[in-house]
Amino acid sequence: MLKYYLYAIVPAFLLLSTFIWVVVSLIRRCKSWRIAAGIFAAEILILAIGYFVYFTPVEYARNYLDDPPPDPGSLADIANEKGFYIGAAVNMADNPEYRKLVPSEFNSVTPENYAKWRQLLVNDEIGNYDFSKADAIVDYAVEKGVRVRGHTLIWGKFSGRTYPKELDDRIANAKDPPTELRSIMREHIQTVMTHFQGRIPIWDVVNEPLSMDGVYLDKNIFLNTLGRSYIAESFRMAREADPSAQLFINEQFGNYTGELVELFFDLLEWLLEENVPIDGVGIQAHNIFKTHNLDEFRQFVERVADLGLLVEVTEFDARIRLFGEEPDPYRAQSDYMAEYARICIENPACIGFTVWGLSDASTWFDWVPPFNRMLPNDPLLFDVNLRPKPAYAKIRDALARRP
Ligand code: XIL
Repeated sequence: MLKYYLYAIVPAFLLLSTFIWVVVSLIRRCKSWRIAAGIFAAEILILAIGYFVYFTPVEYARNYLDDPPPDPGSLADIANEKGFYIGAAVNMADNPEYRKLVPSEFNSVTPENYAKWRQLLVNDEIGNYDFSKADAIVDYAVEKGVRVRGHTLIWGKFSGRTYPKELDDRIANAKDPPTELRSIMREHIQTVMTHFQGRIPIWDVVNEPLSMDGVYLDKNIFLNTLGRSYIAESFRMAREADPSAQLFINEQFGNYTGELVELFFDLLEWLLEENVPIDGVGIQAHNIFKTHNLDEFRQFVERVADLGLLVEVTEFDARIRLFGEEPDPYRAQSDYMAEYARICIENPACIGFTVWGLSDASTWFDWVPPFNRMLPNDPLLFDVNLRPKPAYAKIRDALARRP
């Protein structure tokens, strides 16, 4: 994220400072105004070229449309047979794709936004819940016998977005901040898990505890107030709230090796030593700026499994532009997606593979800047016309071989 902001902030800073240089040198009648104006013009030109290159939509050949379409439903059928979850994130219950693809193609769904803390609240007011949007998604799935993944209880990354802004004020003004925070967390976890008890059997209890900027835990209000024990405590509160639910920690990794990954395993080992009730690790698997090294991914999954924990790929997507240089981008993307899924499917500890959206017409990339301007994104398993991409058949074949 920091990198992403830098892409915007650095050019803006350069432009503004050169502009000020031009204006000041003009006011002072210095000759240097020509140099400044020249640099300013060059900056504008470079930006315009960059803008053109990045923001002009491209079209890649859809060669897969020439293949015979796979049997509909074959993926969900075999997933059900194998006790594996092929899931999709669903943003709105009234998205017509939901009824078209669930339960026929997906046997698991994750509410994309409406079970998040802030999104559950009316006017961002702590304790004032409106479950209607989440309920609509969950009830349809439950009615169809489809599993729901709960996403997510405690997520400290962005104040006012991943948790209510009011929490900052409450903690800042509290006489005893740790006690106040614990009591608000417990209340939230209790309320939400009790509300969905019997309908949501698995929860991302803590989301994205790692920092995006360095080798440390995300320095959010929970960590700052309770230290890393906020993670342990969240899991204990969750087990208490619904003892039958499976409890996951969910994280996005840019790389599956390196210091940050070691920090993550230190965290897992510490949680296990402390007998914290954690059942598994959710791996988000967004491929945003680059693809991942799949050998390293395999080893990562094995390492988690060796700890006795379950694994799920919880939020897979891979922007088609990452495959733009390949002779057949959609096929290359599908090969990559299927390989990612296969690694999970082949490990008995890995219980599900969820794509972060029902189809390419419902991907968050299409509404999040700057990707909403870098079209196409097309990062998912079904295309905009709900036609399965080639990964579909490959994932089905991998599932057929799952022990
Ligand atoms: C994203 C949603 O897809 C977007 O609609 C929303 O605007 C922001 O959040 N990691 C997570 C998900 O755990 O909850 C995020 O979902 C994507 C990154």
